Amino acid sequence: MSIVDWSSDYSINNSIIDSQHQRLFDIVNNLHLALLDHDKRHDAVSVALDELFDFSKTHFAEEERQMEAANFPGLGEHRDAHAALRQKILEFQDHLSKEEPVSLGADLLGFLISTWLFSHVLGIDKKFAHYLKH
Ligand SMILES: [Fe+2]
Ligand SMILES: [Fe+2]
Repeated sequence: MSIVDWSSDYSINNSIIDSQHQRLFDIVNNLHLALLDHDKRHDAVSVALDELFDFSKTHFAEEERQMEAANFPGLGEHRDAHAALRQKILEFQDHLSKEEPVSLGADLLGFLISTWLFSHVLGIDKKFAHYLKH
């Protein structure tokens, strides 16, 4: 059972970026499943945060590289948004040592789904896709 499903509506018409976004959906779904398993919760949240940190480095660098190559006027603002997402992962990593993973997991899922997938991927990443079409 997945909590978020990729759809072609989410495509930004770029195969590298789309496949990276699909991996983000996979990370969210794996994290959701792991949170339902009491014995695996702590390790699962820890693994997901490490994976997100690595993934975001690669993915954000790729998006910024393409935006720079296309002279995208929103690059500076987009870079700041990426830095804020990376900062948020660091905060979750810090909280994990002090909090129950079950409450942190709910906050993390909320952050990933509403802030990262819906506001960022489907909001501001799409602005770049629209820019490329013109
Ligand atoms: Fe993205
Ligand atoms: Fe982005």
